[in-house]
Amino acid sequence: MERIDRKMLEGFELIKEGLARIYAPKLELYRRSDGVYEPSWAPVFYNPAMVMNRDINILLLYTLEYEGVKTRSIIDLLSATGIRGIRIGIETPGITDIILNDVSPLACRVMGVNIKINNLASSSTVSCRDARALSYELVKSGTHMDYVDIDPYGSPMPFIEPALSVPKINGVIGFTATDLAPLTGSHPWKTLKRYHAHIAKNDFSKELGLRILIYNILNKAFEHDIDYDILFSYYSDHYYRVYLRRTKSSKGIVEKINNGFGYILYCERCLNRRHVAFKDYFDSNTIKNYLVCDICGSPMRIVGPLWIRETARHNIVSKLHEITEKYEWIKSSRRIKKLSKLVIDEHSINVPYYYHLDHVSSTLKTNPPKIHRIIECLNSKGFNAQRTHMDPKGVKTDAPYQELRKCITECST
Ligand SMILES: C[S@@+](CC[C@H](N)C(=O)[O-])C[C@H]1O[C@@H](n2cnc3c(N)ncnc32)[C@H](O)[C@@H]1O
Repeated sequence: MERIDRKMLEGFELIKEGLARIYAPKLELYRRSDGVYEPSWAPVFYNPAMVMNRDINILLLYTLEYEGVKTRSIIDLLSATGIRGIRIGIETPGITDIILNDVSPLACRVMGVNIKINNLASSSTVSCRDARALSYELVKSGTHMDYVDIDPYGSPMPFIEPALSVPKINGVIGFTATDLAPLTGSHPWKTLKRYHAHIAKNDFSKELGLRILIYNILNKAFEHDIDYDILFSYYSDHYYRVYLRRTKSSKGIVEKINNGFGYILYCERCLNRRHVAFKDYFDSNTIKNYLVCDICGSPMRIVGPLWIRETARHNIVSKLHEITEKYEWIKSSRRIKKLSKLVIDEHSINVPYYYHLDHVSSTLKTNPPKIHRIIECLNSKGFNAQRTHMDPKGVKTDAPYQELRKCITECST
């Protein structure tokens, strides 16, 4: 084995994550005055708060294996220390080909060491390129991978278009987005510039952000006549994660644009809302009836465009949920079990938003009731109602808004 460059690793320490041991920056050197670790200050990025993100990645690849989708080749286009690709290489079965890429020369040297100490040298290649240039070159040379990862610090938008052509047919791509402020509408003009979506102040911003992100990913794919199915997506802590599988045919694209893309019409006064698919939005006879709130008569704000269909596949999330505790080294299995259960439950309701109980209650000038009482009330009237993994005060329901308001009024008296 080549000797390790100790000087380069000054300020680094050997840590363990999953089954991998890697050199990562010493966390205590990069703490803010409030004591919080700031990973972007370190010379090579490593964020221990993202362990669950990587744990889910491992479980998703196992899930796909159970579903008959084999992953043998992977590329982590934004690798930093290489932790994600290294974990996939040693924790999932049958990986024969790993490319770890980062534009930072120091990151490339550190990931080179990390590959060696995890005995992955024979299956791994380190690349020190701009992720976009590398993606285009791989595609030009006819190289496609089973699994592709894009995990930037901030928005994935600059990398989406080149990366979407890298997976094989049936291959999978995972995106992280940590720019929650523009995605959830804290900076509406940034949402417009970066994600081409109009956004209003609303009470379901976590779900809106995820759906605006998915719309943008699919829109880029469709521009190139490439189709993807969404396997699993979620919100957690300070980020969104979306996994998609490239389909063999592009025949379904027009149907997805017509029925999967759409808008939400939102009443900022009473918080009434409804969604409308692209094909109906552009039908003036339909849309003219949607522009005024049918509860309070205020004009409805138009929010979007966004993805309005399922954001996860039931069989994938169910399998992931089932196998979560099978791999004893997965540290965040308890959290993942809870999150995947909530995702399964909320997907029994086919509406692209939740209602925030505090906000809706305040329009009724009443105290918010306990969420379980609202769910029981809606169930007793024959409606489906579930919690959402995105917000502890959020309720998803197929009930008309008036019925939810009646339940809130009944339960708070
Ligand atoms: C958030 S970190 C990646 C974290 C890593 N995936 C993990 O799980 O720890 C983002 C990385 O992208 C790299 N990067 C930024 N712009 C890039 C580009 N255009 N091409 C390649 N790498 C880039 C940065 O150097 C940084 O190491």
